Amino acid sequence: MWESKRHAGATRVDVDLKKMKEAVILSVRDNGVGITQKQIENPRSMGLLGIKERRAYFRGDVTIRGAPKKGTTISLRMPLT
Ligand SMILES: Nc1ncnc2c1ncn2[C@@H]1O[C@H](COP(=O)(O)OP(=O)(O)OP(=O)(O)O)[C@@H](O)[C@H]1O
Ligand SMILES: [Mg+2]
Repeated sequence: MWESKRHAGATRVDVDLKKMKEAVILSVRDNGVGITQKQIENPRSMGLLGIKERRAYFRGDVTIRGAPKKGTTISLRMPLT
């Protein structure tokens, strides 16, 4: 959430948490500058690496998408089984 202000310059963040039968899905969307593919893939992006490591631990899926000047969305899906 903090990243949305520090990096994104966002004025709005939407958080959505859904519990399905077999998974929990969390998505965080901001309306900031939009993360680039390079930033997503940068091995020095410690914050993102932390998310990716935890994803592995929970056997989840994470997708990060940025659209220039439109914002960034991160979605994660954690299986319950
Ligand atoms: N919501 C966002 N919108 C736009 N760019 C973002 C967003 N979140 C992260 N970024 C970009 O991706 C980079 C990597 O993010 P990450 O959280 O991994 O590292 P950091 O925030 O720079 O450092 P740390 O989290 O280790 O303090 C950031 O430096 C920033 O450029
Ligand atoms: Mg960070």
